[in-house]
Amino acid sequence: MNNQMISAVPPMGWNSWNTFYDKINDELVRSMADTMVEQGLLDAGYNYLILDDGWQARQRDSRGHLMADPEKFPHGIKEVVDYVHSKGLKMGIYSCCGTHTCGGYPGSFEHEFSDAQQFADWGIDYLKYDNCYRPGSTATNILYRRISMALRSTGRDILLAACQWGTEDVHQWIRSSGAHTFRSTIDIQDAWNSIQKIASSQINLQGYNGPDCFNDMDMLVVGMYGKGLNPETSIGGCTDEEYQTHFALWAMMNSPLIIGCDMREMTDATKKILLNKEVIALNQDPGVHSCYSLPVYGNPDVFVLVKPLANGDYAIAFFNFGDTKAKAVLNFWDMGLSASAGYAFEFRDCISHEDLGLQKEFFAPVVSAHGCKVYRCRLAKNCK
Ligand code: GAL
Repeated sequence: MNNQMISAVPPMGWNSWNTFYDKINDELVRSMADTMVEQGLLDAGYNYLILDDGWQARQRDSRGHLMADPEKFPHGIKEVVDYVHSKGLKMGIYSCCGTHTCGGYPGSFEHEFSDAQQFADWGIDYLKYDNCYRPGSTATNILYRRISMALRSTGRDILLAACQWGTEDVHQWIRSSGAHTFRSTIDIQDAWNSIQKIASSQINLQGYNGPDCFNDMDMLVVGMYGKGLNPETSIGGCTDEEYQTHFALWAMMNSPLIIGCDMREMTDATKKILLNKEVIALNQDPGVHSCYSLPVYGNPDVFVLVKPLANGDYAIAFFNFGDTKAKAVLNFWDMGLSASAGYAFEFRDCISHEDLGLQKEFFAPVVSAHGCKVYRCRLAKNCK
């Protein structure tokens, strides 16, 4: 281990589950790795390629080791990992703290140390660790501490993504287990109300989010448009405006940015959202401050998220969960800026990439239904 944080900023990547369910194989992984490089996703920061549930054979081998499904992965996992690494990407895999995974494949319960060693031997860089089929007598926090210890015992830097769905007040104890991210909600669906519900449920938990242990609001559904082989996720689809809002929420709330669509079929609108370097920069900001939320007077569907950035700027994002467009007023007073201080904010629109000049005392954009506005704002002397 290299004695540094494994996840100083939220991890970024792609995960197979939202679109491919357990219909994954060697060829798919290789073509996704190629796509991540060719489409500029790796350059934009998406560097983990994560195989979710369904890569395993239904039984362990005679020595008790996990095996890859021989039909899906005829050359085994190590070869796939080597290919992914050859593209400059990191490789993630999935297992579960119970006797079985959620899809019914063998889980890691009481195999934790040997499975961790096997993952390390394959060159795995990221383990998503689920919470199904856990023997009732074993406390969850023990099992997350245990897999964390098992991964550490290998000496390899492996990011531990705990997938415990936000139950048992996971935000309160997960950081001390050594996990680097924690799923804080049940599974996302490709539908506006799912996005809205997840974001609303996490706004007041931002204080638990920080370097090397991030609140994972689940994989992105941006660009899925109701498609895919996962009947639990693909239930309708969203508009591009809603996908943009989803991405901005996850970015502002320091969630991992893990793509879930078929990256080989990204539309121009999807690429514009997922590859927007100005919005990504707010999520990946080295200051890693949490955001706080401010209500907008008179409209409960509209709110503002504010995040202080490392260079002294502020990320300010306006969200409208309502079904009609709305004016969202932010008084800088509520951010701590008194008029007498002699400062104003220079606004830069991170989605249209326009500079909007110096704004004094307040800013009040009109935000479309289910839409957002995202700005990077620089404190500047207010020369009246
Ligand atoms: C769920 C988890 C999903 C996916 C699935 C695999 O528990 O929340 O993200 O990993 O299991 O079976």
